[in-house]
Amino acid sequence: MVDVAGGIWTLFFMCCLGDELMELMQHSLDDQTLFCHGGLHFCITSEACSSCRSHSIGCYCHVIHPPRMLFDRHLCLLWGYKISFSPVMGKCAFLLVFGLVATSAAACYPVYDISDYGAESNGIIDSSNSLSRAWKDACNAKVDRATVLLPEGKKFMSKPIVFVGPCHPKTIRFQISGKLVAPSLPATWKGLDASRWIAFQNVQGLQVNGHGMVDGQGKNWWTQSCKRQPKLVNCTTLAPTAMKFLSCKDSSLSDLNFINSPQAHISILDSSNIHISDMMIEAPGNSPNTDGIHIHRSREVTIDKSWIGSGDDCVSIQDYTSNIKITNVRCGPGHGISIGSLGKSGNQVQVENILVKNVKFKGTTNGARIKTWQVGTGYVRNVIFQNISFDKVKNPIIIDQNYCDVRWNCSELVTGVHISNVVYHDISGTSSTKIAINLNCSRSVACTNIYMKSITLLSAKCGQTVYSSCTNAHGWASQVVPDSCLLD
Ligand SMILES: *[C@@H]1O[C@H](CO)[C@@H](O)[C@H](O)[C@H]1NC(C)=O
Ligand SMILES: *[C@@H]1O[C@H](CO)[C@@H](O)[C@H](O)[C@H]1NC(C)=O
Ligand SMILES: *[C@@H]1O[C@H](CO)[C@@H](O)[C@H](O)[C@H]1NC(C)=O
Ligand SMILES: *[C@@H]1O[C@H](CO)[C@@H](O)[C@H](O)[C@H]1NC(C)=O
Repeated sequence: MVDVAGGIWTLFFMCCLGDELMELMQHSLDDQTLFCHGGLHFCITSEACSSCRSHSIGCYCHVIHPPRMLFDRHLCLLWGYKISFSPVMGKCAFLLVFGLVATSAAACYPVYDISDYGAESNGIIDSSNSLSRAWKDACNAKVDRATVLLPEGKKFMSKPIVFVGPCHPKTIRFQISGKLVAPSLPATWKGLDASRWIAFQNVQGLQVNGHGMVDGQGKNWWTQSCKRQPKLVNCTTLAPTAMKFLSCKDSSLSDLNFINSPQAHISILDSSNIHISDMMIEAPGNSPNTDGIHIHRSREVTIDKSWIGSGDDCVSIQDYTSNIKITNVRCGPGHGISIGSLGKSGNQVQVENILVKNVKFKGTTNGARIKTWQVGTGYVRNVIFQNISFDKVKNPIIIDQNYCDVRWNCSELVTGVHISNVVYHDISGTSSTKIAINLNCSRSVACTNIYMKSITLLSAKCGQTVYSSCTNAHGWASQVVPDSCLLD
């Protein structure tokens, strides 16, 4: 279809523009001013596109006003814009209308550049209004695919904002090629929901990417956090998550660098079929509660090829989650990859089918962790940790079924979350504490079917030995160093 459409357009230009077009084509394709000049913009080949502006989904011709249409293979053409070609104007205009009807919308991808909506790129003036309007136009565009663009080389500041769907395009791309920064002062959130900064809600087919940067400017939040300053009057326990996917479906987040979120960097909530990859998430190791990625009440979520270093969990898998795959991740600094804490409110936990594979932990407090509260019930089952390496990790392998952050209020209970079918396979590295394997299960609800194979954990300190500790943990082990303490 695209080829046919491209062919029609090429033909149309040939016949319509004749010599003028040939002259254009013979001109150096690098000549941006010539190629991107005037009201009608087109790229004949992908090389021509790159002379306008390259774009990973095809070509992107820079124009002054939205909307712009993108024909990704053969030509880019703008509609809704006055055509200023004088010699062939009438014929072109006629053919243009005909062409638009004749070609499928599948070949046309509009790009809504927020600069065209008046967004200031000094990183100081609020751009949320431009973002909102660009999103609205993209979301309502009667096409299969639309893009909201934060262009490269520019820095935009936005106040808290929610991008709401459902949208008309099957695919809606949110392309952050420049830098998006949060307001630096917590006071900006006065009267607003302090739990979020950027959120996408009810969107299907969302693709957030673009090789740009998302800077949460969390410093001022960190200094007033109760975790850091418990004695501070009005210290805060809730700070914004940089980006939330709320009730989204069939979506992705990739190729972005997130830094310094006030609290968690990314949160996936009530969503399904979400793919996260090629992400870089960075916050200082001592920044409070700055989890990398939170997954809660969601299923079919994958995280691949990402580097996460923060002051809290690199990935935190919360309650009501299933079919989660975390692969090829580097974690550190941080608190590791945690399933939990689960069951805090005495709820019935349902967490299953979690794969954590090809992961490197460096200098983290925990590695592969499962933590549940005694008051919780329900289950965590079918969890695989495979091909994991640890470098100076405090608790490389840990199950804590007695998790409690209020020490004096956690007396032993008869309830607990049942943890079963957990595999640790092909694991090596160093522990910076003496207990390398700690399976601390509840005395009333045992951990069952724990399977350990090919594990070698040594001390990070020269000459020291490490050991395993088990409480009510049942399963099988083979080739495990330090010796396993699992019960049959
Ligand atoms: C704490 O918050 C209250 C109510 O918002 C305010 O009146 C008070 O001035 C604040 N105190 C400090 C020390 O910021
Ligand atoms: C194990 O994981 C590392 C990355 O941590 C990867 O480079 C390696 O290929 C993986 N090995 C296998 C057998 O998958
Ligand atoms: C196991 O959990 C109990 C209750 O929280 C705690 O007192 C104990 O120190 C833990 N054991 C290990 C080895 O961490
Ligand atoms: C202590 O435990 C009781 C009973 O589970 C609960 O009602 C109360 O809220 C807890 N207090 C704190 C500070 O967590």
